[in-house]
Amino acid sequence: MKLMIINGPNLNLLGKREPEVYGNQNFEDYFLSLKSKYPSVEMDYFQSNIEGELIDKIQEVGFSYDGIILNAAAYTHTSVGIGDAIKAIVTPVIEVHISNTYSREEFRHTSFISPVAKGVILGFGLQSYDLAIQSFMD
Ligand code: DQA
Repeated sequence: MKLMIINGPNLNLLGKREPEVYGNQNFEDYFLSLKSKYPSVEMDYFQSNIEGELIDKIQEVGFSYDGIILNAAAYTHTSVGIGDAIKAIVTPVIEVHISNTYSREEFRHTSFISPVAKGVILGFGLQSYDLAIQSFMD
């Protein structure tokens, strides 16, 4: 099985950014731990702060990978373009968030990803990504 994890803006600062919300671990280290936990899964990782680059990556992998795990970060709440990209591809997308966006500011309660995602996992810290992998394995 081939999975792609895509992270959006500011998630390159995990470990440094608002640790009380997002924790102390950087994503690169966490990604290595996921790879060793699931050796049978071929897993790739892409992060960008640029909306168009996220759309390019979704289009690039969206006809060949078995699943995409997407944390579009702030673009979740604003991007019609990312929602349309997900509609355009065949690979199923699971939306993940580290924090429980529904317990935060009102503007985080809207998602352009949820209506077109296979499922949504949020609020479990970095473990949200692990749970998404498990859901693809079932
Ligand atoms: C986030 C939640 C978003 O509202 C926020 O803009 C992020 C991270 C999360 O993983 O909890 O950057 O997607």
